[in-house]
Amino acid sequence: MARTIVFVNQKGGVGKTTTAINLGAYLALKGKRTLLVDYDPQANCTSGVGGVHGAKGVYEVLSGSATMAETIQPTKVENLSLVPSSIDLSGATVELVDKEDSNGYLKRALEPVLPSYDYVLIDCPPSLGVLTLNGLVAADEVLIPLQCEYFALEGLSLILKTVSLVQKSINPRLAVGGIVFTMYDSRTKLAQEVVQQVSDYFKDRVFRTIVPRNVRLSEAPSHGLPVCLYDPSCIGAKSYDSLARELIARVEGGEAGELAGPGAKAAGTEEPGLFAELRRGSNG
Ligand SMILES: Nc1ncnc2c1ncn2[C@@H]1O[C@H](COP(=O)(O)OP(=O)(O)OP(=O)(O)O)[C@@H](O)[C@H]1O
Ligand SMILES: [Mg+2]
Repeated sequence: MARTIVFVNQKGGVGKTTTAINLGAYLALKGKRTLLVDYDPQANCTSGVGGVHGAKGVYEVLSGSATMAETIQPTKVENLSLVPSSIDLSGATVELVDKEDSNGYLKRALEPVLPSYDYVLIDCPPSLGVLTLNGLVAADEVLIPLQCEYFALEGLSLILKTVSLVQKSINPRLAVGGIVFTMYDSRTKLAQEVVQQVSDYFKDRVFRTIVPRNVRLSEAPSHGLPVCLYDPSCIGAKSYDSLARELIARVEGGEAGELAGPGAKAAGTEEPGLFAELRRGSNG
């Protein structure tokens, strides 16, 4: 049965889609059957892997005119498949509210295809609205891409509160699979501080692989390619390769990633109330 991972951060432009695409591509290159589910009306994930726009996708699944299996497209990466999205999905917020058990809709739609995959990665929009809630209910774990800046810390406590509510009310198996630092710039002191403090607090919930700011990662989607096909030797590609190894090691055991950050070893805690300490710490 597939491991289902949802990429969540209500802050926009933090690297959710870039991480879903490139982590997915490297999982696939390592022989893991991987399904990318574009659950964002912006459809960035769809264009980023060269998906066919206008084909049936998640909106058609939600509106009942297609099954999940019917919408799955192959990509240029072997073992990597895509369920595309489109702007039509923006109407789903309204349509889902009318449905019974609206938050469990994606989970039910995905169930029949789970046995065909090792990993299912769900890319969510920058909000904690009904689409993201559907992702959280469908998932085994949440992966939180985090940009190394102060506002990221404020946003993190809200995500953790939402995760905790979903855990308590609908999906008790949901875990915080980890926090991934993205667009890291080692030249700024603030970036180093954010990494240090979040790592001190969340300990082994923080992935040791830190994704640096790398222009090749931002160019690849305009070619409809994951970075592994665009420029496999760039530092961005190497970091997502390392992140995929680290994820596999966490989920299945095995060789860990190499691009290690300062993540500590002891067990983490995710109580949002305690997070105020971290914020105060980063202020002074
Ligand atoms: N490590 C990186 N280095 C340089 N550019 C990056 C990196 N990661 C992402 N980007 C670029 O930053 C922008 C935002 O990234 P991305 O679309 O992945 O974020 P997102 O969280 O999915 O955004 P949204 O919230 O709008 O869905 C994109 O233009 C992307 O190409
Ligand atoms: Mg996105």
